Amino acid sequence: MKNETTYLGLIVRVIGSKLFVELSEDLPSSTPIIGGRLYKVGQIGSFVKVPLGSLNIFGIVTMVGANPAAQATDNFDFPYGKRWLEIQLIGESIGQQEFQRGVSIYPTIDDEVHLVTDEDLRLIHATNNPSSVNIGTLASSDSLPAFIDIDKLLSRHAAILGSTGSGKSNTVTSILRSITNGTFPKSKIILIDPHSEYHTALKDYAKIFSIDDDTNSLKIPFWGLSYNELALILFDKKQAADSTQDIAVQDKILEHKLSIADNLKCGAVDKENISVDSPIPFNLKKIWYDLYNEEYATVNTKQDISTAAYFIEGGIERKGDWKTLIAPQFAAPSAGAAAPFIFKQTKILSSYLNKLQGKLKDNRLNFLFNIDDYDGITLDIDDLLSEWLNHDKPITILDLGGVPFEIMDLVVGLISRILFESVFWGRNVPGFGKQRPILMVYEEAHSYLPKGGSNQTVTGYASRAVRRICKEGRKYGIGAMVVSQRPSDLDETILSQCGTFIALRLSNSQDQGIVNAAMPDNLGSLSELLPSLRTGEAIIVGEAVKIPSRVRIPRIDPRPDSGDPEPSVAWKDTSIEKPEFSKAIVNWRKQKIEKISITK
Ligand SMILES: Nc1ncnc2c1ncn2[C@@H]1O[C@H](COP(=O)(O)OP(=O)(O)OP(=O)(O)O)[C@@H](O)[C@H]1O
Ligand SMILES: [Mg+2]
Repeated sequence: MKNETTYLGLIVRVIGSKLFVELSEDLPSSTPIIGGRLYKVGQIGSFVKVPLGSLNIFGIVTMVGANPAAQATDNFDFPYGKRWLEIQLIGESIGQQEFQRGVSIYPTIDDEVHLVTDEDLRLIHATNNPSSVNIGTLASSDSLPAFIDIDKLLSRHAAILGSTGSGKSNTVTSILRSITNGTFPKSKIILIDPHSEYHTALKDYAKIFSIDDDTNSLKIPFWGLSYNELALILFDKKQAADSTQDIAVQDKILEHKLSIADNLKCGAVDKENISVDSPIPFNLKKIWYDLYNEEYATVNTKQDISTAAYFIEGGIERKGDWKTLIAPQFAAPSAGAAAPFIFKQTKILSSYLNKLQGKLKDNRLNFLFNIDDYDGITLDIDDLLSEWLNHDKPITILDLGGVPFEIMDLVVGLISRILFESVFWGRNVPGFGKQRPILMVYEEAHSYLPKGGSNQTVTGYASRAVRRICKEGRKYGIGAMVVSQRPSDLDETILSQCGTFIALRLSNSQDQGIVNAAMPDNLGSLSELLPSLRTGEAIIVGEAVKIPSRVRIPRIDPRPDSGDPEPSVAWKDTSIEKPEFSKAIVNWRKQKIEKISITK
């Protein structure tokens, strides 16, 4: 064996699953040519094998050195002038059987260590697993395909991490296309797309819902939020404490919810089970209108005041309209003892009513509040789920471009909660939940799943919802894939629940530390490679891959709409000399981006 071209050296020390190998002095070259292919000895992240009869034990190179230029760890000194490798054991194969993670027999001193050839790698990576999809090639060899197991990817969750421009969005597109491209036509993937990047890249595979689209407009019913969450948006309340104003609004909301309970399209709900926070539709515009009437009405007889009949023809001058948010007008109260009288002596809701009207008129929030059809009678959450899930495309893109930054947390949280609660409560519904699992993909996750999202306040809503998916989703058929350029800003619980890491180039040392700590298989040292990865190259470790691998992900065309700006081209282009700035200003004022068709 020693004269084989693959021979590297002998084991001189074993600590747990770590080996130290002294490279042979007779190694003819550090770049042997085997089977016509050039190999390089001692590449970090490359594989070696220890043949023990019909058993092959495989390991990964985590450190190389030559004494005395570098010292091996654990106070272990190699004799002067020796070259050595540190190896982390990862798995074994017996005869021609498939590669298995974990080792049954540990190698020992003086066992031979050999280079792993493409043939061996083909064996290691070969799979007849029907749940595997090809996502690229091994970085060490273009001819060897790399696979991920989508069952594990979904049920154990995954994270795609990398600095800006390292190729995350391209990786997401590539993985989603591989999954949906023919093999799994009935997949159900929901992609949260905060920057409207995926329209072109996935248009053949996805139904896209966006705020500005009139045909497939994104609607998210606000009444799925609890009162405290809603008050955060409506009244800018940062804390959950209930003031007198809140109680007045809550009473009105509950009244509306109770009034509809018997007539709900999905089925009646017992009134005893309904609270102000139940996910039951109510009409916010009407609530504003009703409360406005109560607050400002003037009445003609004192009798009206005692009966609390606030809608009094006598004092009204203009009825107004809840649908278009036109406030009613009332005759001014007389100063003396004559009519009209003030219906409510102390006005407490003026500021709430103003804020409410402002929010209901805000164009940016139309997707949340201007959804009159979702009244529980014409349309309900089941219709929303049908829109999102019952179409013939495997991917649903929820384009959140245009959602105000400050409510992103609540919107993503609400979407996640609607889906999680539906699979949780619908676990026995045929064709739903575990029988057709849903993969949630969270792009740009650091912006709405921040570290330390507190449990007490209403912020951190999305983190709580996604944490729940990560902790319990496996049992009900919903999985999460988070994509982020700042892992150190990401919710720790969510990250720690991810079983698979796809780590692209990461240059920030804090971020590398997070990936290092989260990497399973004691392979933290692989994270040393992260700053030097090429664009589109990733280290994949964890449940969804057989073996930690350095993978090259192909560049996808058409690519996500996130390409780098190219000043070197743009600054020479003379085609448009004077852009119409006014269009930008109008969009800014309207808070709505008009579509402009680009003709070039
Ligand atoms: N596999 C690849 N091969 C070659 N080029 C690639 C590859 N993946 C991405 N790129 C290029 O790198 C650039 C950035 O890619 P991408 O938008 O996927 O990065 P990103 O990590 O999502 O960045 P951000 O964090 O800013 O969203 C694009 O111009 C893209 O064409
Ligand atoms: Mg991106």
